[in-house]
Amino acid sequence: MTLDTSSLNKSRHDFSGRDSVWLFGYGSLIFKADFPYLERRPASIRGWARRFWQGSHDHRGTPEAPGRVLTLIESPGAVCAGMAYRVAPAVFDHLDVREKNGYLRFSTPMAFTDGGHEEGLVYIATEDNAAFLGGAPDADIAAQIAASHGPSGANRDYLLELAAALRELGAEDEHVFGLEAYLLRL
Ligand code: BEZ
Repeated sequence: MTLDTSSLNKSRHDFSGRDSVWLFGYGSLIFKADFPYLERRPASIRGWARRFWQGSHDHRGTPEAPGRVLTLIESPGAVCAGMAYRVAPAVFDHLDVREKNGYLRFSTPMAFTDGGHEEGLVYIATEDNAAFLGGAPDADIAAQIAASHGPSGANRDYLLELAAALRELGAEDEHVFGLEAYLLRL
């Protein structure tokens, strides 16, 4: 797979005739939406777990010293809490470029915390993408995050802001809160 996934994403979904599409956010999209949206609702998806297993060369790190950002890993029985946005299809033109370092759009059912379900899209960096790093001991992941900086800022801030946003949602996440604890001890 190529490093730049933006052109691949363009051919993955047909938005013709659609006024809006639901997007599920599980990372920075929970606390930062740099695009217009029509609705924003806490939501969750089943069968996926959030992991700091994707390398970041263009946002929270550099090609020489990649940071670590989130992707989703299939995990039967897991529930991943996040934020859903109803957006105009044109928003994906922006997000496809922003998330070009290995992320592909996938369809997913999502459940709103206050009730109801919708089908929508989620960006996932699969294991076969060139920037995928995979798992490592929490102490090593936290150390890499502590040391990394990129055009979007410190990798440390990404983890701390995510942990704060998950607490605000009332979400449990052992992986994220465990890494946060390591980071704060460094
Ligand atoms: C998100 O916050 O859902 C997100 C994570 C990685 C890439 C794109 C979006």
